[in-house]
Amino acid sequence: MVVKVKINDSNWNLVWEFIWEDNISFSKMAEKNNIEIPVSCGMGACFACACKIVSWNEFIDIWKISVPLVDLEVDDNNNYKDVLTCIGGIKSEYIKDNNEYEIILQKMI
Ligand code: FES
Repeated sequence: MVVKVKINDSNWNLVWEFIWEDNISFSKMAEKNNIEIPVSCGMGACFACACKIVSWNEFIDIWKISVPLVDLEVDDNNNYKDVLTCIGGIKSEYIKDNNEYEIILQKMI
């Protein structure tokens, strides 16, 4: 299974793209690919690393590393609209086949 993570800026320009890894946050995945996503507190408390979830909401684990210390927006179906990339990651238990997936996030700041 391959999951590509794409992060756009607020104008929808692709800024970063990397391949997922399990058990780490989006910002750590990026770091392992020599990409530096701006992070401040690193523990889910400040929104500096926040992204809107554009696609594949069901694969994103808001609590992959720890519990967010700030409130995140949900849509009408109770799906989270945002993820903090310093603590959020991918629900590996959902991805068990050999297909390719693409997760798209959009920087909020
Ligand atoms: S860096 Fe503060 S919430 Fe992610």
